[in-house]
Amino acid sequence: MNIAVFSTKSYDQEYFEKYNTEYDYNFSFYETALNADTAKLSADCNVVCVFVNDVVNEETIKILSSNGIQLIALRCAGYNNVDLEAAEKAAIKVVRVPAYSPEAVAEHALALILTLNRKTHKAYNRVREGNFSLKNLIGFNLNNKTIGVIGTGKIGTTFCKLLKGFGCKIIAYDIAENEELVAEGVEFFPLEEVFGQSDIISLHCPLNKHTKHIVNEDSIAKMKDGVMIVNTSRGALIKTEDAIEGLKNRKIGYLGIDVYEQEENLFFEDLSEHIIQDDMILRLLSFPNVLITSHQAYFTKEAMDQITTITLKNIKSFETDSELENEVK
Ligand code: NAI
Repeated sequence: MNIAVFSTKSYDQEYFEKYNTEYDYNFSFYETALNADTAKLSADCNVVCVFVNDVVNEETIKILSSNGIQLIALRCAGYNNVDLEAAEKAAIKVVRVPAYSPEAVAEHALALILTLNRKTHKAYNRVREGNFSLKNLIGFNLNNKTIGVIGTGKIGTTFCKLLKGFGCKIIAYDIAENEELVAEGVEFFPLEEVFGQSDIISLHCPLNKHTKHIVNEDSIAKMKDGVMIVNTSRGALIKTEDAIEGLKNRKIGYLGIDVYEQEENLFFEDLSEHIIQDDMILRLLSFPNVLITSHQAYFTKEAMDQITTITLKNIKSFETDSELENEVK
């Protein structure tokens, strides 16, 4: 099996090489993302392996198909960046890693909340410079606060359980109520009510046509003054310009994001010596109450082990014509 692995960093290569001893596949590792311009790199391969910001649209898929690619192996859970219809038309199968470590992402969402609230990132810098003042470092107790969770799948459920430990009241919205959580005391409400009642809103639903810009001018207007919004799911769940307005007029009190609408041009790269052209991210970075991480919520050793082993198993199932347990249709 010849596998072209796109959007790779040294750590991806390290994990694939570690687990490849069991498989002996031929990998071609590319730092570049897969898109219509780079798809030609897949010539002589059977499989492309892609990540969250590869652009696997109709145009890309046509080129993959003409190169004889038979399988797109996503090494992530979300598949919003793949045109599934075009893949089906081209008879290319798509597999993903549906769950690798819900704990990794849920714990990162919690880290964003705690950091934004208790300002440990600011305290760290202050104290290192000999500034022991507490001015503007005041936070609030999570105990008894209402946390609104949008999307109670694997990550949302894990997140709810973590927050229970802080003595929070947890309310949720999902297109399907989660009985396990209801039994644990999580109350499900219509989306607008969750937006209206929550002190902290955490997004854990997938990005699709129903959820795109679920946080926008209208929904922000329904939220509590000073609300904290946390997004570790997909950038386009939040309409960035509306969030900026909400921050400017102080409706949004805190914003923690691990994902960003235009992240494909920024995230995972060291741009510290570049002139960043994206004015919206620069505006976001200018707020003292915004915390941005660059899509690292998944990035734990345990998650990388799972991502790599499940991706390799997915490819093996395809190679041996076995049932594709993690196929996306
Ligand atoms: P999951 O499939 O287990 O759960 C998603 C939940 O969202 C389901 O309960 C589903 O019913 C619900 N949902 C679907 N449409 C909805 C809607 N319109 N409104 C409200 N809820 C809706 O997925 P999982 O594993 O919990 O992942 C959630 C998302 O987290 C993924 O789609 C992905 O975008 C993101 N993610 C982010 C990572 C990161 O590193 N930042 C890593 C892994 C996943």
